[in-house]
Amino acid sequence: MTSLVSVKQLNEPMVEWLLRQAQYYIEHEPKIKINGHAVNLFFEPSTRTFLSFQLAAQRMGLTLLDFEVEQSSVKKGESLIDSLQTLDAMGVKLAIVRHGDDWPKLIAEAGLKMSVINAGSGIHEHPTQALLDALTIKQHFGSFAGLKVAVVGDVRHSRVARSNAYLLQMLGAKVSFSGPEIFKPLDLSEIPWIDFDQAVAESDVVMMLRVQHERHETAYAVADYNKRYGLNAERLKQLAKHALILHPGPVNRGVEITDEVMGDPRCKILQQVTNGVAVRMAVLHWCLREESNGQLVPA
Ligand code: CP
Repeated sequence: MTSLVSVKQLNEPMVEWLLRQAQYYIEHEPKIKINGHAVNLFFEPSTRTFLSFQLAAQRMGLTLLDFEVEQSSVKKGESLIDSLQTLDAMGVKLAIVRHGDDWPKLIAEAGLKMSVINAGSGIHEHPTQALLDALTIKQHFGSFAGLKVAVVGDVRHSRVARSNAYLLQMLGAKVSFSGPEIFKPLDLSEIPWIDFDQAVAESDVVMMLRVQHERHETAYAVADYNKRYGLNAERLKQLAKHALILHPGPVNRGVEITDEVMGDPRCKILQQVTNGVAVRMAVLHWCLREESNGQLVPA
């Protein structure tokens, strides 16, 4: 079985296949059906990722179980590895996992037969988010070579920033980071950290990030955040007409982004959400191709 726990596993042909297949699923119903059961294990809250995997699994014919953490033996001390090994022993083919730890490292030695998809690992990775962001960019620009992408905000605590930086650079985009100095990451020092107004003025894609209060050790006040580091009506005037505004969601309206920005035609947040279902269908297809007669050509 194939797993997707990091964008670093992917190469350009694999990404090209996943994006092409996702585009197919936006326009067509799948002709193939995947047999078997998958399970959603979410240890952190989610709206988009959780529900879009549910929709994606339904459209691919997979039966998706919901592992309700609060009702499960996790409450009696069961570890993530023990939960996964238990589901594996039941014959579940695939687990979709969101957890606050860098859990792919923990499960590497677990000997699982099942596929595993990373739906968010702490501050580390969110591969399907990066793929749906890449699809949104590809739909508008056709390719990635030389595109200037600025990722702005709480980069230090963002798995979305990390997965996007790895993926978009591999595809040929020029990625920079911006935001409050306190959110500058300790890793990824090779990626330029630029002034926010410069980022807005010169970027083809501006990807805004949520301030992740739940991951901060000390409280961070956002009183003047929008004025200094947020997109608003004034800054929209500096953004190129061809540029895209992306945000993984959920948004903090009035903080990193205002209502005017949400209504601007360059803002593609809901298109990202739509693409999320199709990208996750393609990822399920990729991971479980042995359960769909090994078909990897567009169905
Ligand atoms: N982008 C994202 O992961 O959103 P959710 O937390 O709602 O899944």
